[in-house]
Amino acid sequence: MIAATILNGQQPLPATEKDQRSFSKSAASIGRHIFTDTDLSHPHGQGCISCHNPRSAFADPRAVSPGTVLGREGTRNAPTLMYAALISPLAYEEAFNEFGQEVHAWEGGLFLDGRARDQFEQVREPFFNPDEMNIPNSTVLAKRLRNSTYADEFRRWIGEEAWTDDEQLNYYAYRALGEFLKEPFFRPFDARIDDFLGGDESALNEAEKRGLELFKTTGKCVDCHLLTTKTWPQPLLSDFGYDNLGAPSRGAKDPGLGKVTETPSELGQFRAPTLRNITLTAPYLHNGSIATLQDLMEFYNKRDLEPERWGPTDFPETVNHKDLGNLGLTDQQVADLVALMEAFTDRSLLTKEVQKDNAFPETPPGVPGTESMKPHFPMWTHRLQPTFKKNPE
Ligand code: HEC
Ligand code: HEC
Repeated sequence: MIAATILNGQQPLPATEKDQRSFSKSAASIGRHIFTDTDLSHPHGQGCISCHNPRSAFADPRAVSPGTVLGREGTRNAPTLMYAALISPLAYEEAFNEFGQEVHAWEGGLFLDGRARDQFEQVREPFFNPDEMNIPNSTVLAKRLRNSTYADEFRRWIGEEAWTDDEQLNYYAYRALGEFLKEPFFRPFDARIDDFLGGDESALNEAEKRGLELFKTTGKCVDCHLLTTKTWPQPLLSDFGYDNLGAPSRGAKDPGLGKVTETPSELGQFRAPTLRNITLTAPYLHNGSIATLQDLMEFYNKRDLEPERWGPTDFPETVNHKDLGNLGLTDQQVADLVALMEAFTDRSLLTKEVQKDNAFPETPPGVPGTESMKPHFPMWTHRLQPTFKKNPE
């Protein structure tokens, strides 16, 4: 049999809006099955859900996650998947510094070092990463998908031709995961901060209100953890820009963005994460080196005054000393910032079903469907949409 080749051409999206809706619905359903499937990994036993727990806002409470192969583990703390489908693709954005000069900076991209340009590129990696699901190659992945418990549903969705072709089948598995991550329960915006910013003054208590004031002023938090973004109508609490905060070293030096861009001044930089659901995603920073939000705020406040408390960092030469490290906050102000972050937690993640049984959260009423948010999703048209040629020469 001749293997199908992926060309750079464009396969048109489903013709009508109704077709698109039904495509998204089937895709999200298959994506959900794949996400929870622990039989795809090699050896069996690990799926996406093993490191992205609903009760931890789809992050991992372990500093680094063990792989499916006994004794192997990664080097980074698995981040939340809440709102991950809203992270824009990696781009070199222009901005202006305080002197009005034009500067450029990296923004967006998936993984904490931005090595996947977008969601589509990201979702394929965990399957084949030897420190994660360790599937030897795409033939094995396709074979395991064909043997899955949701095989019939998958086959009906993509049709016979795609089902029997490894490349096409895997392509639709990645598309399915991408659609799944857009599901409304991953973007409920039902935290108290949303109510407060929506005009409900009583949604925050006094300490939290003081915290929010510091967040916007002395703390400089909003410079990077934005309250308003261009792309989405509600607060994502990140600009998805990159910086080196000087995280305490853990094991081998982690070059972060600098390795991806091959730029020495960007070594040790990592993408600013959303602060939504931050109370559920300890430990903190890209390497899980800081255990609590109280410690992290003390780090932001006094890192440069107490170097012995935090120990060495991987790339001291690129650490940001301008925006953090010596903020001059009082203990009360640190406590107020910590208090504020309680208000960033989505209520739909705090139910007994999620917290006790680790079930997927319910979508709160009023959250718009994927189709109606189309103009806001950064990744909609899927630039990698390939043409699968039936009979390549
Ligand atoms: C062994 C644990 C593990 C497994 C299994 C795993 N992940 Fe992850 N995931 C991680 C870690 C660790 C990172 C951060 C890695 C990095 O930045 O280099 C991550 C990052 C991500 C990101 C990027 C988030 C962001 O903010 O950039 C997404 C999306 C994601 N994983 C989805 C998935 C999906 C889908 C699967 C299943 C196909 C999966 N993960 C399987 C540990 C895991
Ligand atoms: C100059 C940009 C910048 C500023 C200002 C800033 N942060 Fe951050 N923040 C980041 C980056 C980048 C990271 C990720 C660093 C890493 O993983 O090594 C981060 C990480 C965090 C984390 C941990 C997230 C996680 O999932 O591990 C929290 C909490 C946080 N910031 C809160 C704050 C607060 C509160 C303020 C204000 C006092 C603030 N930040 C100011 C850029 C910034």
